[in-house]
Amino acid sequence: MTNETVTIIDDATGKKVQMPLLTPTSGPKTIDISALYKELGYFTYDPGFMSTASCSSGITFLDGNKGVLQYRGYPIEQLAEQSSYLEVCYLLIHNKLPSKVELDEFEDIITNHTMLHEALKRFFSGFRRDAHPMAIMVGVVGALAAFYHDHMDIREPEHRIITIQRLIAKMPTIAAWSYRYATGKPFIYPDNSLGYTENFLYMMFAMPSEEYKPSPLLAKALDLILILHADHEQNASTSTVRLAGSSDANPFAAVAAGVAALWGPAHGGANEAVIRMLMEINNSGEPLQNFVDRAKDKNDSFRLMGFGHRVYKNYDPRAKLIREICHQLLNDMESTGEQKKLLETAMALEKVALEDQYFVDRNLYPNVDFYSGIIFLAMDIPMNMFTVIFAMARTIGWISQWNEMVSEPGYKIGRPRQLYTGAIDLEYVPVDKR
Ligand code: CMC
Repeated sequence: MTNETVTIIDDATGKKVQMPLLTPTSGPKTIDISALYKELGYFTYDPGFMSTASCSSGITFLDGNKGVLQYRGYPIEQLAEQSSYLEVCYLLIHNKLPSKVELDEFEDIITNHTMLHEALKRFFSGFRRDAHPMAIMVGVVGALAAFYHDHMDIREPEHRIITIQRLIAKMPTIAAWSYRYATGKPFIYPDNSLGYTENFLYMMFAMPSEEYKPSPLLAKALDLILILHADHEQNASTSTVRLAGSSDANPFAAVAAGVAALWGPAHGGANEAVIRMLMEINNSGEPLQNFVDRAKDKNDSFRLMGFGHRVYKNYDPRAKLIREICHQLLNDMESTGEQKKLLETAMALEKVALEDQYFVDRNLYPNVDFYSGIIFLAMDIPMNMFTVIFAMARTIGWISQWNEMVSEPGYKIGRPRQLYTGAIDLEYVPVDKR
């Protein structure tokens, strides 16, 4: 931090106020306007948070212009190549890479919390059979609040850590069971001899009547995808978790709010939307350019799903890594003709769009969701589970950000103000006189 300030002059009154200019470790300097209302009596207006830092955080750094993403200072490329999802979870929570002993202990703890309370199982059967697994996730993750209130003084760091461990451990079980329920298959209990991602694949695909061994190739690819989705600073779902948690709400309930925010197609739901779009393109037999033209047409609601990002004005580094995994996976395993065709269409679409002036002018590049769906399809994961897996991966980001917020002394409840544009001082007219 420096002593730099920014002077704001009120043209109407000539009053000058100096606002502190905060210097981050990296990224744009930030004007601290918290005293603006007291000094000038004005609010600031920034719908969609285009220029607003909603908090300070030491967890994830991203530079959208350069296409840089780092967790606790470690570049995503290094973590993707050398780390594991559970190690990344440890890093995000504890702000350091674990020693071998610490990692073994952490993996052990997570493994031993994978079971769900038997009564929680009954929640699943309350849903309609055709429920979207994300709807089930919102409900069941929220219901955890009712089951784990024994260790729930959020002021106690140890209690928070137990909550975090439970969440990370139980998310794959909830995610897999939401799929099992929606497809009428029996619930498969976790097998704690398996690793985190293998266990998820096992709970998704095993049958009590047959032996099932999760493929190490798929487990490795899934682990990588989880690493790439683990955190992404103050996106819509993370901000939702922070805002919900800022009222000291139960953290499981706050995370359920994050799951809901993630579901939308402008956010985590885009991976499902990308596959639907690629299928539509393949089935239509129309040239790709027609779809690119539609995406540019302001009178058409069609957008190229998996393209564009609020922060990245360069290639999303996660998309680069996922694109590589996608190629490797489709080469290394017996992928179907349809999966290969989807990948070809995605690559052709990317090429056409990246050369098109509209996309060039607006810096629209493929984002993390553009290729991830193709990988999920290659793993036989149904489309409505794509966003569920995103939620499973992002849980560590949500809860680490919540933990960071709650650890700050004197943190405040989030309470934005507004620019009121409605009517005022109307006179009530009784219904028989209207
Ligand atoms: N296809 C066509 N045009 C687009 C697209 C797209 N995918 N994305 C942005 N634009 C245009 C937009 O019409 C606008 O044009 P103009 O300046 O002429 O009005 C300009 O680019 C800026 O777009 P914006 O909507 O103002 O940008 P935003 O930062 O508010 O939205 C976004 C970001 C991700 C919601 C948006 O790019 C989008 O809808 N993309 C498709 C959905 C998607 O892939 N979402 C996943 C995001 S990454 C994973 C995650 O965060 O969960």
